[in-house]
Amino acid sequence: MKKIIAVDGPAGAGKSTVSKLVAQKLGYTYIDTGAMYRAVALKSSHSNEDLTDIINDIQIELDDKARVFLDGVEVTKEIRTPEISKLASDVSKFGFVRKKLTELQRKMAERGAVIMDGRDIGTQVLPNADLKIFLTASIDERARRRFEELQAKGQSVNLDAIKNEIALRDKQDSEREIAPLKQAEDAVLIDSTNLQINEVVEKILTLCYTD
Ligand code: DC
Repeated sequence: MKKIIAVDGPAGAGKSTVSKLVAQKLGYTYIDTGAMYRAVALKSSHSNEDLTDIINDIQIELDDKARVFLDGVEVTKEIRTPEISKLASDVSKFGFVRKKLTELQRKMAERGAVIMDGRDIGTQVLPNADLKIFLTASIDERARRRFEELQAKGQSVNLDAIKNEIALRDKQDSEREIAPLKQAEDAVLIDSTNLQINEVVEKILTLCYTD
């Protein structure tokens, strides 16, 4: 049985939905590292402090219901806006930001029985993970899913704008110098363009039980 699972991939590929379901099935802890970059972005959007000072004394906590706390205050919803998505990608290019969050993420994974998703989990944060997944889907499909998700929440959204936002973030995340988004050599590639959520979950569970 695989004790540490790393899931990486571009924005909107379904990493968090799938990882949460796998965590539930296995009784594992789910760790959403994107939420941590989003919390840094949210704090920087409210503060006049330098990012280096923000990083020095920031407190980020994730609980077992995937709620996110910034300096002790719940920010689960506030970090999910398009502005914070873009800003999270912007702040994630700085080495000192990545260093701090990588340390926190490694600590969170110390006890094992975790599934962690992000961009650099298999390549940088947990290079010795027992199972690495690189989850992707076509840009059109990822944009369509995000569009439906936001529409269902009652937000007025534009499909082309979402597609552009995702494409820009993919470009930034995969072209940055430090720990860019890329598939680890030993990761299993899953293209979910034509798969249902439960099919992806089943594939990952099968890999977990395979030696
Ligand atoms: O997974 P997400 O969309 O919530 O992530 C938001 C941003 O955070 C993403 O565009 C890039 C950054 N990120 C990162 O650089 N490394 C990670 N492990 C997770 C997220």
